[in-house]
Amino acid sequence: MATDVRQEAKARSFGENIESDLASKFLRVVESAAIASARTMGRGEHELSDQVATESMRLTMDSIPMRGTIVIGEGERDQAPMLYIGEKVGAEFPDGTDVPEVDIAVDPLEGTNLCATGAAGSITVLAASDAHGLLHAPDCYMEKIVVGPSCKGAVDLDAPVGDNLKNIAKRLERGVQDLVIVVLDRPRHRDLIAAIRAAGARIRLITDGDLSAGIAAAVIGTGVHAVMGTGGAPEGVITAAAIRCLNGYMLGRLVINSPELEERVERMGIRDKAKVYCAEDLAPGSQVIFAATGVTDGALLRGVRFFGEGIRTSSVVMTLMTGKVRFIDSIHLTKSPEVKVRFP
Ligand code: FBP
Repeated sequence: MATDVRQEAKARSFGENIESDLASKFLRVVESAAIASARTMGRGEHELSDQVATESMRLTMDSIPMRGTIVIGEGERDQAPMLYIGEKVGAEFPDGTDVPEVDIAVDPLEGTNLCATGAAGSITVLAASDAHGLLHAPDCYMEKIVVGPSCKGAVDLDAPVGDNLKNIAKRLERGVQDLVIVVLDRPRHRDLIAAIRAAGARIRLITDGDLSAGIAAAVIGTGVHAVMGTGGAPEGVITAAAIRCLNGYMLGRLVINSPELEERVERMGIRDKAKVYCAEDLAPGSQVIFAATGVTDGALLRGVRFFGEGIRTSSVVMTLMTGKVRFIDSIHLTKSPEVKVRFP
């Protein structure tokens, strides 16, 4: 019995070491991708912005000692030259020391249009876990509700919008009129927006970026109380990784609305197509890492700033097993002999 406990503790501390070790390395991945895409900010070329972020992520990932598999990426191999689903990333130690097996979900540049137009809210982002710790979601839509820790169990995807809002307001000890709900500004959300307005809550319509909005909803003080509506399923899985680290609450259901998608989902082994997933189903790993860097200014992260002697980035790195949420302000110095660092 005592041996079991000791072995469990040993395995846990081993897991924690791997998690925090990798987290610091994944920070470099999102930082370098953010710097690369921020250089293209405002050029109006969203594909270029995404491409440089993807190339940069791929390059940095290949310097990390791990056996990484991309489980959510830029698409299938034939549409994506890099970071395609199933692609192997990572490096081996020269002496053959064992490296961890890692599943990785990337959105090299979340909010490509935001970066292309210089609008707020674009980030570079990834989630990682021990093997099989992230749902291999198809590239389809997902209905989502994301809320913070106080609202666990207070919302239901099938409940009337007004009921969900009343429940959120009650948990947050305020009136419905004091809530801010983020919704993607899309024609498909016409009824949702009307229902939120009818209930009296305030709305922030966003043009893109329900992933970073979801994270903001789980962090107190951001002024966002929930994200509602339909967005990308891959973004949903990455959001779930962050939500687990933040102890928030999230529900999601795949939108399977074509025979092709039905077939694809079947091939992927998803049997219950109407399943309502919670964050623990979407990102079930025991070691979970979430890392993001701001490309343009947003609610949680500042965008990349270039100055004479270097570059400044603002990132968040979260780990589940070790229970850390780190906001990291990095200055990447030029190699010039004249370099100076200013106090923040
Ligand atoms: P990109 O990362 O491809 O720019 O997508 C941004 C995004 O707005 C996501 O945040 C959201 O989940 C999804 O696109 C919504 O998709 P659509 O634009 O088709 O409504």
